[in-house]
Parts: sequence; structure tokens; C-alpha cells
Amino acid sequence: MNDAIVKRPRSIPDQKIAAFTGEGAYHGSTKPRPQAVQVAPAVVVEEMRPTTLEAYAAAGVRSIADFEATFPNRYDVRAILPVPAQDEIMADGVTFCWCHIDEAIAEAGPLTRRVLEEMTKHLRRDKRFVYIDSKIQWFEQGDVPVDSRHWHVDGSIAVRDERVQALGHRLLHDMRARLDGAAPPTYLAYQSSTHCATQFATAPVALRMPELIPNFDELDRQVRALDPPCEAQPASSIVGFDGLSLHRAVAARSAGWRLWIRCTETDHEIRLNPSIVECYGTVFRHG
Ligand SMILES: [Fe+2]
Repeated sequence: MNDAIVKRPRSIPDQKIAAFTGEGAYHGSTKPRPQAVQVAPAVVVEEMRPTTLEAYAAAGVRSIADFEATFPNRYDVRAILPVPAQDEIMADGVTFCWCHIDEAIAEAGPLTRRVLEEMTKHLRRDKRFVYIDSKIQWFEQGDVPVDSRHWHVDGSIAVRDERVQALGHRLLHDMRARLDGAAPPTYLAYQSSTHCATQFATAPVALRMPELIPNFDELDRQVRALDPPCEAQPASSIVGFDGLSLHRAVAARSAGWRLWIRCTETDHEIRLNPSIVECYGTVFRHG
């Protein structure tokens, strides 16, 4: 069995639902994750090297400094495909969790395969791995596709080790390393529908923040206060962005099916915990 591929029929009664807490469910979130992605511990590639944390540990620094961060918010629409029918989304049948793209294309349903084939035209092919994540989700009005509506970036340099514990935390995202360090991961994302579109910041955002952060709460508060120009991802579009692109999930404006696909180009190898498949694709509902 390949845990990165989920083949099963979809129906509205089968849609997994959990209470919205706002606490996480992004990869690299702060929520305890017994059923989460496990990262290969051995190799730290330059793209994911926590250089700030390394410097703190080497110098015995015990307090976290602030720095001036500018998020360039690279985001552009690469393609707009025909909006699929609701039945077509529901019947597509196969979703992926950190699946290599060639395998995903071979195993995908017809709708997903068309999107993946379009995505291949826009790949940079400058990283070691190209992974596909996808979800087919049924939303009632107000449902959220992930358990957070915070402004955040994908693929942050998240560390859980003794260096982090020495600073009094369980997890820290090395934001300075991501902003000042090696080229971040790059992404292509597709979402099928008008009723639940990810929101992307479309202009640079400059702010002062800690070099290491335990979660995205404070960054979200600052970005909301700055209220930068942003765009809702168009229906059935493929957009390009990277690990410095601020974006956030929004609640569904109406009921309906949505196909979401993300392609990640990264040097960082992902190893899966099989049980993640159990919770992947859950929607989050306010009580
Ligand atoms: Fe994200």
C-alpha cells in the first residue's frame, strides 16, 4: 500500500468534520500532532537549515531578538482552467498526500490529471523533490478547509529539539532563516471553485517580528492590522507562490464540493506517517 495515495468514493455523508479551534492543521503548525507528517531527521538541507537557531545555540543566547522582515509575497496566476462541474469533483476519486508528481499523474482521476498535466508546464525543476497534495472536500457554508484562518507561509523552517526547549518552547519557526536564507520551497496551487478561495497577499509586507516564533498568532495580528492588498484565488486557477508568500484560508461562502491541489518543489524529503491519511481532508466547522 502506498500511503501517499487515497482512492475512495466521496459522498456528502462521508465528509470528515471536526470542530474549528483555530489552532493549526497547517503543516508546521503548533498543535500537537500525533497523526502528522514525520520529517526525516538525518539530513538538513540548506533550504530548511535553522541558521538563527543554530547561532543562538552556539552562543548560548536565551532570549529571542526581533528583526525587520519583508515578505515579498510573490503570487501570480499561471493558468485558468474550465471550472469543473460539482459531480466531476465528487467523482474524481483519488487524492494525494506528499506524493511524487509522476506517481500522482499516473494514479489521478481525470480532473486531477488535467490539472497536474497543466502544472508540469509551470514547474521550475530546480529542487530535488516535486510533491503533490490534494483534497476533495464537501463544505457547508461557513466550513473552513483547515483548522486555522491565520495569515501564514507554507514550508516554514519548523524545529522541535533541545535547542528549541532551551528557549522555553516546544516548537519554533525560524523566520529569519527563511527570510534571509537559502531559496525557499516553491508552490503551485489549484482550487476548483468560487465558494472557498484561498486569499493571497499581493504586495510586499514589511513588519518587525521575532526571529523565531512559536506560532503564527502575532504575525497574523500584524498582517491583519496592516491590511495589505490581496486577492482571492480565482476559481479553477493555478497560482504560483513560494515559502515567503503570506496567505490564509477563508470560510466557504456556500455549500459545495472543492478540489484543492498543491504542488511543492523542495529539497526537503518528506516521509509520511501512514495515519495522516486518516485526518487529511477533514473540514472544520464552527460550533
Ligand atoms: Fe498554506
